[in-house]
Amino acid sequence: MQLWAPNSWHHKFNAQAIEYESVANLQRVVAELSHSPPLVTVAEIDTLKHHLAKAAAGQQFILQGGNCVETFAECETNIIAGQLWMLSQMGLVLERGLNKPIVKIGRLAGQYAKPRSANTEIYKGTELFSYRGDLINSIEPSLIARTPAPERLLEGYHCAARTLADIRALTLSELANEQADIQFYVSHEALHLAYEQALTRQVKNRWYNLATHFLWVGARTNQIDGAQIEYVRGLSNPIGIKIAPAMQPEVLVKLVELLNPADEPGRLVLINRLGIEHIQAKLPSLIEAIQASGRTVSWMLDPMHGNTRLTAKGIKTRYFSDVLAEIEQALLIHRAKQSYLAGIHLEMTAENVTECLGGLAGITEQDLAFAYKTLIDPRLNREQALELVTRMVALVNTP
Ligand code: PEP
Ligand code: CO
Repeated sequence: MQLWAPNSWHHKFNAQAIEYESVANLQRVVAELSHSPPLVTVAEIDTLKHHLAKAAAGQQFILQGGNCVETFAECETNIIAGQLWMLSQMGLVLERGLNKPIVKIGRLAGQYAKPRSANTEIYKGTELFSYRGDLINSIEPSLIARTPAPERLLEGYHCAARTLADIRALTLSELANEQADIQFYVSHEALHLAYEQALTRQVKNRWYNLATHFLWVGARTNQIDGAQIEYVRGLSNPIGIKIAPAMQPEVLVKLVELLNPADEPGRLVLINRLGIEHIQAKLPSLIEAIQASGRTVSWMLDPMHGNTRLTAKGIKTRYFSDVLAEIEQALLIHRAKQSYLAGIHLEMTAENVTECLGGLAGITEQDLAFAYKTLIDPRLNREQALELVTRMVALVNTP
């Protein structure tokens, strides 16, 4: 095994690498970030890992959710409060319905970089670099705005710091009056490794990413010999791995062995996002392979990313019914395999958007135009998200 260092990923293939025009500017920004204060504490990260270990054993349940992509413009108190409100209300429904403590993790304070299937897009006849999240470029469709700008990493850091300050203040004031458990964790995709590396720090002989509590590796960058897997391998944070239908059971076992050689409970969360079309064919053999390996993992379901559809007009959406059906299948499969579904991973917002179809609100294709605000993936709105967890509780409690 090669030695790990915060920069050992440089020697590996990065499937979503960003090319900057000035490497010197990038290095200057990374040096500044490397000297900036950490955003979260080692104690918080270790406590989260302890909760995730309980979730792996079915004693707690993880609710991870938020926007597909956070934007700098929405780095403001009322938006953050909305996401906390969603997580806390959904958490209450789940806590009462499942009769277990709920571990709440926001896609917050750093979910600013996105992988894209296409590197470029054509806008009014001009080829532009795709929008890759505010950490990298701007959504505005011009050549200049789409050029990756290193200074954005500093802005991302400041927005993350602001978001965390808001979370700490909000959970101590308003939410504390409503419920006893005010613990919230934050997470984002481990994608832009220059940013992540700059916030990686050594504490008592262990390496932590102190920009966030929990990092996940996305479905487009989870290659076993890829840069993102190399980077997360050496961290002490808990790590999630997204699993798409192409994942082979024996490769998954190798990934688990590589990322958690000591089989530390709570270290790994496997986030399957197979979609309603593939879950029945794929999930059982993945669970069996992990069981046969004797390894401990927390199985989480992301019922959003395998169920993205395009309408006839070319609008990206998801059907509430597909999302719910995938949850039902996951519960049935885990039950049949004597395994636990340890958590769910959702894209949702407290805003009254019209991005996903269906639910009691009955959102139709015509309604999508009404309040379609997401910059990348469609989110459940407040009603749909609360309805979803309520329906999930009913499914769990069905004998
Ligand atoms: C996401 O979580 O927004 C995402 C891009 O997911 P995936 O890597 O599973 O496609
Ligand atoms: Co998404």
